[in-house]
Amino acid sequence: MEMNRQDQRLFFDGCDTVELAKKYGTPLYLVSLSSIYEKVKQLKSAFTDRYENTRIAYAAKAFLTKGMVRIIDELDLCLDVVSGGELDCALRAGFPPERIEFNGNNKLPWEIDLAVKSGVGRLIIDGFNELDGIIESAKKHHRTVPVLIRLTPGVSADSHDYIVTGKKDSKFGFPVDSPALYRTIEQAIESEYTDFLGFHFHIGSQLESNEVYLDSLDIVFELLKKLRKERGFVSKELNIGGGFGIRYTEEDDPKPFDYFFTPVMEKIDAFFKEEGMPRPEIVTEPGRSLIGEAGRTLYTVGSIKEIAGLRRYVMIDGGMNDNIRPALYQAKYHVVNASKYDQEPTELSTVSGKICESGDILAKDVLLAPTEPGDILAFYSTGAYGYSMASNYNKIPVPAVVLLYKGKDELMVKRQTLEELHRNDLIPEMISRL
Ligand SMILES: Cc1ncc(COP(=O)(O)O)c(C=O)c1O
Repeated sequence: MEMNRQDQRLFFDGCDTVELAKKYGTPLYLVSLSSIYEKVKQLKSAFTDRYENTRIAYAAKAFLTKGMVRIIDELDLCLDVVSGGELDCALRAGFPPERIEFNGNNKLPWEIDLAVKSGVGRLIIDGFNELDGIIESAKKHHRTVPVLIRLTPGVSADSHDYIVTGKKDSKFGFPVDSPALYRTIEQAIESEYTDFLGFHFHIGSQLESNEVYLDSLDIVFELLKKLRKERGFVSKELNIGGGFGIRYTEEDDPKPFDYFFTPVMEKIDAFFKEEGMPRPEIVTEPGRSLIGEAGRTLYTVGSIKEIAGLRRYVMIDGGMNDNIRPALYQAKYHVVNASKYDQEPTELSTVSGKICESGDILAKDVLLAPTEPGDILAFYSTGAYGYSMASNYNKIPVPAVVLLYKGKDELMVKRQTLEELHRNDLIPEMISRL
């Protein structure tokens, strides 16, 4: 965590965060364009610039707005979406459909139809019934749909259970030994409406070790060998998912991208060479590692409750509605008093939200500079799964998002108004008749 306490206030991408809080109000999500550029540059130099026939698909679920779609397009990345809503957002913002890949378990018929109709680049089959829906839609729209099949390689990543997705007991994908997998492969190869390209796996999120990727490859390689022997099938594509860990607090030790890609690509190259098969295109699907550290959230301190000998609660004007991760995954965050950035953090504090849930604690027992009502707190690394997981619980509007770039700031998403909050809320006529 960078700590430049010469400034009295916290600056982010050249902008004074306390001024931003005044200008736009709080809670406020900030997104640094410089940070996104830097992360994408690092990823490209560890992967796509270094290895031919490779692709990056940004995982939209981490953070998606129409502006973000434009950024991803300009950076020449592909886009991984997991719902009709994400797909619609991408299409509305003018993202080329052929660079979109559609993931997600239990895709709904209308979502499949929208994906097929708009000509998305890849549909990643996540469950047994999905392929029938794809074929039906492809017939209707006279298309041949490029498809991959998502595998759960059966390895367990060392991360929170809710963000581990590659183990056998998972709602995602096909276990490699399931009969349904072989039926789906067969159907995808046989159908004139699908172009079966290969396999996809995503092991989990916030991963700090490359071993799970390497172990997963062993399992996928066995499957590829079997399919070539039995079916003469040679894959054209292999998607290894995302999940690269980031720094949320000083305790985290995220690895650079080449820590993952160097051994992974060496292993892949060696396998295909040894088997005498052309290496398929390798795709990665990172979300948080591109956007997580590019985000910060600002809050204004309201009440402070000191329980003698027990705890000091510093209460803020947001909470689990704008950042569900601490409540959902016991996620930890680095937080500073942005108004008193030059002061030593000496006060043990528990930062709690304003939502009516005891679990609405954003940071437990953290050190803050002496904090008073009216101070602005800044949570670091909130760019991923913060805004995108926001809710209206307690009828609280979703905060605004502001994009920053080298001292400039511009609204990216407007703060939701009370009017908008209630817009779809109807009073059924039958109530007045009771
Ligand atoms: C299929 C798939 N790809 C990519 C990602 C992105 O993961 P991360 O944001 O940890 O990189 C996820 C996250 O859940 C996912 O499920």
